Amino acid sequence: MGGKVLCVEVEKTRAEKAIKALRKTGLLLEDYLIERAGDKVLIPVAEKPESIDETLFRVVECAPGYKKKIAVNPPSYDLLGDVAIVRSKVLEHRASEEVVDALLKTHPRLKAIYVKEETVEEYRVPVLKLLWGTPVEVVVVKEYGLSFKIRLGKVYYNPRLTEEHRRLASLVRDGEIVVDLFSGIGGFPVHIASLKTALVLANDLNPVAHELLIENIKSNMRRLKGVIIPLNNDARDIPDHLPRKEVAHRVIANLPKASLGFAEVYDQVLAPEGILHLYVLTRDVYTSIDEVGSVLPGWRILSHRLVLEYSPGSGIYRFDIIKPEHV
Ligand SMILES: C[S@@+](CC[C@H](N)C(=O)[O-])C[C@H]1O[C@@H](n2cnc3c(N)ncnc32)[C@H](O)[C@@H]1O
Repeated sequence: MGGKVLCVEVEKTRAEKAIKALRKTGLLLEDYLIERAGDKVLIPVAEKPESIDETLFRVVECAPGYKKKIAVNPPSYDLLGDVAIVRSKVLEHRASEEVVDALLKTHPRLKAIYVKEETVEEYRVPVLKLLWGTPVEVVVVKEYGLSFKIRLGKVYYNPRLTEEHRRLASLVRDGEIVVDLFSGIGGFPVHIASLKTALVLANDLNPVAHELLIENIKSNMRRLKGVIIPLNNDARDIPDHLPRKEVAHRVIANLPKASLGFAEVYDQVLAPEGILHLYVLTRDVYTSIDEVGSVLPGWRILSHRLVLEYSPGSGIYRFDIIKPEHV
């Protein structure tokens, strides 16, 4: 138990809103535990607040427990089903036992905790080292009710792309032909086909990603309005696998470290006035704008947005680019 402090007492149903508001005003005492008392919640505060939005509350004396520092600051990690994946740089600052403890406290049902040492090779697969638990080879994750099977360490997958999968899928119109040149296990294609009656050609060079893409199409089949054709080729050869050149209304190129090297493919696959969604890893977005201009002369950048922070000072941006009618 900690000492006596003031607590805001609110109905359980209003607690989340009150906590947010108190945190915003700086009154929330972050080192103390927020505790339940029957159907009320006690939120420790530095002083009596004047108001908390329209939330009904009263201020009482209380003696909440202290938070252990570890719970205050859980390590940076991704959760894939029952598996947590921690970045290796987290272990530069914290003991591995401490990291394991913190994760198990927050997610008691974890089966394994892995450290991601790096992402390697053409297939962008993570090198994973088991930190705790028993090895897990396969996980199934959900994105907006869609399920994706993943083989850990064998394919690229990033749960932080979930929103981007959805956002991009919502841009597609019914009836479009979409080519995803670097589809991985099918994030963009499955989201698109679940929302739109599009025809999506989904290609990835990694044979394991290709197998999983097929499984993911099957497992989501009942939710799909569109059709997905899975391909397992080098993106450079995709133009030869199309019934005709310049067939796509939209091309997705999510290979952020190398996407600028496939300009000829984009030109051969995309119809005039089609849209290219080009993902680029960069430290300086304006340099990338110049680079796009020099590899795709005459194409017009409609917009760009930061999709993911990559490392301090660099990020993955999506450029939405329109191919001119006549180059
Ligand atoms: C960043 S990941 C794609 C992630 C995917 N779009 C998603 O949302 O999960 C890049 C993918 O490109 C694939 N790849 C790398 N080089 C390739 C190439 N030359 N042709 C086709 N696929 C390639 C890798 O195997 C990897 O799955």
